[in-house]
This record gives sequence, structure tokens and C-alpha cells, in this order.
Amino acid sequence: MKQKNLDQYDKVSKAFHWITAIIVGIAFVLGPGDFGRLLDDGIDPGTRNDIIWHESLGIAVFTLTFLRLVWVAVRPDAPRLQMTAWMHLLSRLMHFVLWALLFALPLTALLALGSESIPLTLLGGFRINELPFIANSNLSGLADWGEVHKFLGDVIMWSAGIHALAAMYHQTKLKDGVLTSMLP
Ligand code: HEM
Ligand code: HEM
Repeated sequence: MKQKNLDQYDKVSKAFHWITAIIVGIAFVLGPGDFGRLLDDGIDPGTRNDIIWHESLGIAVFTLTFLRLVWVAVRPDAPRLQMTAWMHLLSRLMHFVLWALLFALPLTALLALGSESIPLTLLGGFRINELPFIANSNLSGLADWGEVHKFLGDVIMWSAGIHALAAMYHQTKLKDGVLTSMLP
């Protein structure tokens, strides 16, 4: 496929980018810090709106990221803006880290729930009590996946923050069109 404007990401990539960024931000804010205590007290996670929303938004990120990856394979070329080789390499590296985190966050959450047989509770009363393929897999005992998930939640916010600051630097100091290439 060819693209007319070589300075700009296509509209679909922009939509994926900003919708994902907004959802990740809201999911982070809703991250249930008291999840362990709640379970110890015998409270059903499905009775808590913040948890239902957090898990639903997180699953939405997972779905969007998968669709976005398919789009990246068929979309018009991404813009190739003028920048030094090391800057280009760093930006590719940061994109890779962000992509990996967008998959790793939902996966570690599912591993955390599945290995401890904690229900996945989503909007609309959707609920999966057990994830036996996770509980029975070797992965389940490999780590405290809840802790890994929480850690990665912080890592994605730091990475996205640095990534956003880099975009601002490009815009204000280098004036090379990097930020505008992703703006609607
Ligand atoms: C982009 C997606 C996600 C982000 C950024 C994210 C972020 C976070 C953060 C930062 C925490 C820790 C909150 C705190 O300690 O204050 C957390 C906890 C948690 N998240 Fe997510 N999350 C995401 C997706 C998901 C998904 C898809 C699920 C469910 C399938 C989920 C389930 C949980 C659970 C159960 C906890 C509590 C873990 C524990 O205390 O052991 N998250 N999340
Ligand atoms: C959780 C938040 C975010 C995530 C996960 C994220 C992730 C990504 C990814 C994976 C790409 C590559 C896009 C592609 O190839 O289609 C990208 C590009 C881009 N992002 Fe973000 N982003 C986030 C937030 C932001 C914010 C807040 C800004 C600006 C203030 C921003 C500015 C840009 C720009 C300008 C590009 C294109 C330029 C480039 O190639 O680096 N992003 N982002």
C-alpha cells in the first residue's frame, strides 16, 4: 500500500496510538493496590467497580494491540523523518519496549489470576472463574505474576513518560515534525 503524506502516520495508526494511550492511562489510575488484602478478606473482586473497569480496559488494550500489530503489517509506510542514526535507533528501541509492555501487561495479569484461581471479572457481568490452561502450565509457578504485573504497570508509565518527553523535545527544540506526525 502507498501513502500520500510521508510526514504523517496514517489515520488508523493515529487512532490506535491515542486510544491505547488514553486507555492505558485510565487502567493505570484504576490499578487495584489493595487486591491482595481484598482477597484475604474474602471479598469477591467482581463486586468492585474499579477492578471490573481495570480488567476490562486492560483486556481492551490487549485486543487493540493485537489488531494494531495486524494493521502495522499491512498499513502504509510509517513516516521516515530526518534524524541522526542514534536517535532513530533509540526511538525504535523505545517503540519495541512499549509494544512488548502492551502485550506483557495483560498476559502477566492473566497469569496472576489463572495461577491462583482468582476470577477474571469484566464489565457486563462477564466472569471466568478458572483458567485451567494457565493453572496447569509450568508458567504458573515461575514467578509471583501479580508482583511482576504491578512492576510492569509502573515500567510502562515511566517508559511512556520518557517517550512523550522525547516527542516534546523533538517538537520544541529540534522542530523536526516527529510529534505532529502522530497528531490527529
Ligand atoms: C494496560 C494494561 C494494564 C495496566 C497499565 C495495568 C496496571 C496495573 C497496576 C499499576 C497495578 C498495581 C496497582 C497498585 O499496586 O497500586 C495493577 C494491578 C492489578 N491488575 Fe493491572 N494493568 C493492566 C491490565 C490488567 C488486566 C488485563 C488485568 C486482568 C486481566 C489486570 C488485573 C490486575 C490485578 C488483578 C491487579 C492486582 C495484582 C495484585 O495485587 O496481585 N490488569 N495493574
Ligand atoms: C501509554 C502511552 C503510550 C504508548 C503505549 C505509546 C506507544 C507508542 C508506539 C508503540 C509508537 C510507535 C507507533 C507505530 O509504529 O505505529 C508510538 C509513536 C509515537 N508516540 Fe506514543 N505512546 C504513548 C503515549 C504517547 C504520548 C503521551 C505522546 C506525546 C505527547 C506520544 C507521542 C508519540 C509520537 C510523536 C509517535 C511517533 C513518532 C515516533 O516515531 O516516535 N506517545 N507511541
